Amino acid sequence: MKERFLPLNIALLLPDHPLLEEDFYLKVGDRFVLLRKKDIPLTPERINRWKEVGVKSIYLRAEARNAYLLHLYNQMEETLRSNAQQEEKAKLIYGVSEFVTERIIEDLSEEVVRLAKDFVGECLKHLREQPDLLHLVIRNMSHDFLNQVHSNNVFFLATGLALFLGMEKSEVEKVSLGALFHDLGKTKLDPQILKKPGRLDPYEWTEVKRHPLWGKELLKSQAKGLPEEVVRMALEHHESKDGTGYPLRLFGEEIHPYSMMVKICDVFEALCGIRPYREALPPFKALLFMKEGMIHKFDRELFKAFVTFLGPEYYNKLLKK
Ligand SMILES: [Fe+2]
Ligand SMILES: [Fe+2]
Repeated sequence: MKERFLPLNIALLLPDHPLLEEDFYLKVGDRFVLLRKKDIPLTPERINRWKEVGVKSIYLRAEARNAYLLHLYNQMEETLRSNAQQEEKAKLIYGVSEFVTERIIEDLSEEVVRLAKDFVGECLKHLREQPDLLHLVIRNMSHDFLNQVHSNNVFFLATGLALFLGMEKSEVEKVSLGALFHDLGKTKLDPQILKKPGRLDPYEWTEVKRHPLWGKELLKSQAKGLPEEVVRMALEHHESKDGTGYPLRLFGEEIHPYSMMVKICDVFEALCGIRPYREALPPFKALLFMKEGMIHKFDRELFKAFVTFLGPEYYNKLLKK
């Protein structure tokens, strides 16, 4: 069987780690090119040299990469409590979270649901204790159009918003889980439609609009043990306050406030993200677009809270507009 290789963010490489005694590859087009043979020491200097020449991710055997990421997760508590630099901690929590999101998308088993719940609990503990970590993560988010990158970013944004609103622990947990699982239904969508480098035709658009219902069905049948609100966030995150959303065309208060929170974060992330058919917007432009062109679709107070949570540089600028 052909070996499968998966990427690992270079920021997550720990020098001379025994689990990284693996051949490393670079992806060039469709090919994998050997970067380092496993017996060549993985020194800090070597890692830095790769960073200097612009290497963002290295590829290694899928099995070894997943075992390493799981190990990082198990060590997360210790690392986050250590005196490592905040930037390093932010990269670790973001990388581990992306791994969890990827697992959800790839294989929605009971074990993965448990992993997601454990991770959210663990993650919230640290984000509550170290709010600067959350802002560091948000400032350094990558904006790929991959489903797991999007869901991961929405997870940090929605968690940040929930913490900012001073919601209770169990409520924040629900919002965080809802954000992680909100686009699960996209796993049933034809990948050609998801990756299409252009505007969608009416048929493709109808298919895309089905993903909230698919998400609800998947969560109900395969991810038992998640709170009911998580299912609602998956189902309602494209509904709009003015009744123009999908799939149910709900109005105002019919939409659960958590779904509205995920929706605001989702739109913001999608606008900031690189998409095959358009340029990414810088965060302020995304917020301005949301305020001037879409405000009737959102709960105003929640939108205001979201902007305030992102920071005064956005809030003050928007107020002046
Ligand atoms: Fe969605
Ligand atoms: Fe989304």
